[in-house]
Order: sequence, then structure tokens, then C-alpha cells
Amino acid sequence: MGRLEGRTALVTGASRGIGRAIATQLAREGAKVALNYRSGEAEARAVEEEIRALRQEVARESGGSSDTTEANEAPTMLVQANVSDKDQSREMIRRVVEQWGRLDILVNNAGITRDRTMRKMTDEDWLEVINTNLNSVYFCVSAAMPVMIEQNYGRIINISSYVGQAGNFGQANYAASKGGIIAFTKTAAIELAKYNITVNAIAPGFTLTDMLAKVPENVQTQIKAKIPLGRFGMPEEIAKAVAFIAADGDYITGQQINVNGGVYM
Ligand SMILES: NC(=O)c1ccc[n+]([C@@H]2O[C@H](COP(=O)([O-])OP(=O)(O)OC[C@H]3O[C@@H](n4cnc5c(N)ncnc54)[C@H](OP(=O)(O)O)[C@@H]3O)[C@@H](O)[C@H]2O)c1
Repeated sequence: MGRLEGRTALVTGASRGIGRAIATQLAREGAKVALNYRSGEAEARAVEEEIRALRQEVARESGGSSDTTEANEAPTMLVQANVSDKDQSREMIRRVVEQWGRLDILVNNAGITRDRTMRKMTDEDWLEVINTNLNSVYFCVSAAMPVMIEQNYGRIINISSYVGQAGNFGQANYAASKGGIIAFTKTAAIELAKYNITVNAIAPGFTLTDMLAKVPENVQTQIKAKIPLGRFGMPEEIAKAVAFIAADGDYITGQQINVNGGVYM
């Protein structure tokens, strides 16, 4: 039996990259997982397929039949929503709770970059990043809070970034959004602790996804030279930290957990 058996989770931005790895890891550990995406429906469906296959494999390995009722019970649902929109975020949470009756784990992962130095940054660049990366976290947490309070249980995990701790050239909007997530996480942790709801942030370093692929190769080489472990992170390495907090982090709240190869200490 997985550590998250009986739990339900929602991962925003689960169609690709780190969100995909988190959703898959939570499902591997037994949680039912709602997969949010904005535009990548085909990719989100592929994640759903991967999870279905994985659950059947886990059932077989644990001696059960691959076609037991449990293995066949829909372990996922797809929820399309643009999380930078408050109404869509709230409707997304409502649909998950309607489907499964509870929401135990909320992973606020969806994020974008619009990198430019401040001399070139437009208001749109600023607002799009703040709305997608930071305001979305408030929208989703505020919508999930009532059901988590009612359950007297919740694990909220916000994906920040080492850039929110250290700053980075050309990323004023992104750094502000990720630093904001850390400050929000601490405040939410204080306010929600009495309801057995923990709120933590994971701060990845440079991780191999489409987001990092957008960085020019020569810049990637310079970045890698500054990482003590000498390599980029893998999405699965971030996912393991999320699963740890979700499954075994009962006495951990208000923390930022760095999974960054030592690039920021
Ligand atoms: N990769 C890194 O080096 C790194 C480092 C530190 C922190 N992070 C953080 O980790 C998180 C995931 O990053 P990643 O590298 O996996 O990015 P990615 O590969 O670009 O994937 C981003 C995901 O977010 C979704 N998304 C974007 N805007 C959305 C919106 N408005 N509403 C709903 N979903 C939205 C995308 O869905 P669609 O495809 O449907 O648009 C996609 O599933 C982000 O918060 C990022 O800031 C990444």
C-alpha cells in the first residue's frame, strides 16, 4: 500500500515538466491526482495514460491483479483552467471536490517566465508572470482552504524557485513572484496550522524542463559551472521532495526546501 493511499491531490501545471513528475510521483504513492493544464490537453492526456499504466504496474508488483477494481478506479481527472484567472481557479477546485469529495494535497506548480531586463520589460511581462506564478497561488489556496479546514487536514506545497531567494539578472518579475510565494507560504502556514493544514514551499534550482530549454546553450553552460553538484536537476528529484512533504511532513510547516544542487545555500 502506497504512503498516499486514500489521499486526493491537485497539481497545477501538470501537463509537462516538474508538474508532470509531481503528479506521477503522487500517483505512484497511491494518491488520486487531478491534473490541471492550461492549453496542453494532449500532453495532459498522456500524463493520465502514464499514471494509469503505472498504477496497474504497482498493483501487479504488490501481488494484486492488474485489473482489480482499485487499479481500474479512475486515479486521475483532468481539469483545464488558467490559474491566473481567479474564477477559473476557484471553479477548478470546486470540480475536484465535487468529483472526489475532498482535497488533501494541493501543489501550486504552474509557472511561466517572461525574461527581460527591467529596462526592456513591459507591463504585460510583469503582470503576466505575477498573475500566473503568484496570484494563482492565492486564488487556489483561498478556494481550497474551506474544504481543508472542514477535513481538518491539508498539505499545501508551493513551487517557488532559488531565483526567489537569490534574485537573477533579467528576472525581476519571476524573482518577485517566487519570493512572494515564500512569504505567502510562511503566512499561510501560521494562519492554517490550527486546522492541521501545513503549507510549505519547494525551491528548485535549474531543472531540466521546457522552461530551462528556453535558456540559450552558452548561458546554460555558464549556469552549470556555478552548480556545486555540476549538473541540472531532474523533475523527478523535485517530485520526490514534494511526495516527502505530502506523505511524511506532518510536523513540517512554513518551510522552504531547497532542491537545487547547492546553487544557493
Ligand atoms: N525548470 C526550472 O529550472 C525551474 C526552476 C525553479 C522553479 N521552477 C518552477 O517549477 C514550476 C514548473 O516549471 P517547469 O520547468 O516544469 O515549466 P514548464 O515545463 O514550462 O511547464 C509549465 C506548466 O505550467 C502550466 N501552466 C503555465 N501557465 C499556466 C496557467 N496560466 N494555468 C495553468 N497552467 C499553466 C503549463 O501548462 P500548458 O502547457 O497547458 O500551458 C505546464 O504544464 C514553475 O512554477 C517554475 O517556475 C522551474
